[in-house]
Amino acid sequence: MILITGGAGFIGTNFLLDWLTQSDEEVINLDVLSYAGNLENLVSLNDDKRHIFAQGDICDSTLTARLLTKYQPRAIINFAAESHVDRSIQDPEEFIQTNIVGTFRLLETTRAYWSTLENKAKQNFRFIHISTDEVYGSLASGDEAFDEDHRYEPNSPYSASKAASDHLIRAYYHTYGLPVLTTNCSNNYGPYQFPEKLIPLIIVNALAGKLLPVYGDGQQIRDWLYVKDHCAAIRRVLEAGTPGETYNIGGRNEKPNIDIVHTVCALLDTLYPRADGKRYQQQITFVTDRPGHDRRYAINSKKIERELGWKPIETFETGIHKTVRWYLDNQIWVRNVQSGTYRKWIDKNHKERAL
Ligand code: NAD
Ligand code: TYD
Repeated sequence: MILITGGAGFIGTNFLLDWLTQSDEEVINLDVLSYAGNLENLVSLNDDKRHIFAQGDICDSTLTARLLTKYQPRAIINFAAESHVDRSIQDPEEFIQTNIVGTFRLLETTRAYWSTLENKAKQNFRFIHISTDEVYGSLASGDEAFDEDHRYEPNSPYSASKAASDHLIRAYYHTYGLPVLTTNCSNNYGPYQFPEKLIPLIIVNALAGKLLPVYGDGQQIRDWLYVKDHCAAIRRVLEAGTPGETYNIGGRNEKPNIDIVHTVCALLDTLYPRADGKRYQQQITFVTDRPGHDRRYAINSKKIERELGWKPIETFETGIHKTVRWYLDNQIWVRNVQSGTYRKWIDKNHKERAL
């Protein structure tokens, strides 16, 4: 079996659901259920014995050691993190705790467990750390896309905490020989993403008749990766990646934020027209920029394409269509995640953005 952390969050949920449609190998899912973790994502697995849920913190070494000893997983995939840049600007402490201390503790308990394995199991064991392209910093418009050798230049408390965790991962390979691999991916989008991130926030606000907040001039560029393509890449890295290596994963979809917002509005105009016949783009409003806002991210995925034969299947057009459709079909899910905690955060984040 394998152990994943953060399997009740956005990418972890998609990974888990996809995994169990393709394999009978059991998954232990360790998740603390922060505001971003949602067991409702996993209701379809309620009677599925292949999914073993353990609520807990990756910082809790006693718990992780117990899980490793009891279940003897052949691999660990670490999705657990605080993942939202705006939250890291408002309140960085939690990011240091989970992303740095948590990764460190998980590495330590993994190292202790791994050292008890027999030779073959030890050799075959894998620890995959899910990281981000944001560790590389910001690109100017003509710059080459990030490859795996790009220097680390994180600019937000979030990306700095992820960069620190990546360095720890690297050190555990070089120092202890732990078979770790790191993936650095671009912005994911798709089903089950918490509506604090750009795409689901725009969909949800549009449907609720609210303003669609675009930070600054809206010309910041991100590379958008459909989450299921990302999950396929992680499965390939687990299957065939080389320990000690890092792999960049991108969607080949570089787009300015304002174009993303216009695309979502246009899709909603077709799939779910406003009752008053007006267009959703009327709800767009430019608001105060994010401090230290990275201008452009772009990923060069040639290494994983060449070495592991992975390529994204979705274009942005097909992926965004599926995503908008999913949010339209799952409005109860949206309503349920918009709990009091969510509303408090949205109020806090947008209080000073002149909405
Ligand atoms: P998410 O915020 O949706 O989910 C994070 C999950 O981790 C939640 O279920 C949460 O409850 C859990 N968690 C948080 N702290 C924990 C702790 N201390 N112990 C155990 N569980 C904990 O995040 P996501 O978007 O699914 O991202 C998953 C990983 O991918 C993260 O490491 C993130 O940095 C990385 N990543 C995400 C994106 C993206 O676009 N979403 C892009 C690049 C990299
Ligand atoms: P986000 O989804 O928070 O991901 P990240 O900061 O990790 O890239 O934001 C994506 C882009 O959209 C980023 O440039 C900030 C911008 N953005 C807005 O313009 N408005 C919003 O309400 C949000 C949440 C983000």
